[in-house]
Amino acid sequence: MIDQQIKAAVRDIPDFPKPGIVFKDITTILKDPKLCENIINAFVDQLQGIRIDAIAGVESRGFLFGLTLATRLGVPFIPVRKAGKLPYTIRQKKYDLEYGTATIEMHTDAFEPGQHILLHDDLLATGGTVTAASELIQDMGGVVAGFSFVVGLGFLKGKERIAPISNKIIILAE
Ligand code: PRP
Ligand code: ADE
Repeated sequence: MIDQQIKAAVRDIPDFPKPGIVFKDITTILKDPKLCENIINAFVDQLQGIRIDAIAGVESRGFLFGLTLATRLGVPFIPVRKAGKLPYTIRQKKYDLEYGTATIEMHTDAFEPGQHILLHDDLLATGGTVTAASELIQDMGGVVAGFSFVVGLGFLKGKERIAPISNKIIILAE
């Protein structure tokens, strides 16, 4: 099963980037092309029947599978970037992380109002990142079609936090 394959591949790094945090290192997944292919296939299967006009992935680890998934589905990929990286006109949101704070930005022409955007990230922890990204999408007139993650840290209750935004939440390994 894909969840067991992912759990076996992810490497736990204690006390990174701060004491008390157990960091889920997914670079060990990226070394296994067959597992990467299985991950994309699992997302495609679970997204059947959902309207998706574009996929937004959050810098930086949300870019890894986000672009591949968008290409497989034949839809545009939208980079949601950390502050100061996008060159055109932007909108931004500040948010809290398990280990700090950050600001994300999107280009104002990233999608058309009314489009259905799937939010993708490698990992769901507190849900702060994708909640901020959802608010940006909604502020810009988009509809959050759902969420997709490779890994979820259940004890941080991110799923409960984002469920009111969209109840289509795919987490391949929790
Ligand atoms: C990590 C991860 C998610 C976010 C999850 O990104 O890739 O984007 O944290 O945490 P949350 O659910 O509590 O918001 P990070 O900001 O560390 O950046 P990176 O992808 O560039 O490593
Ligand atoms: N993002 C937020 N918390 C994380 C964790 N524990 N491991 C990897 N990425 C994260």
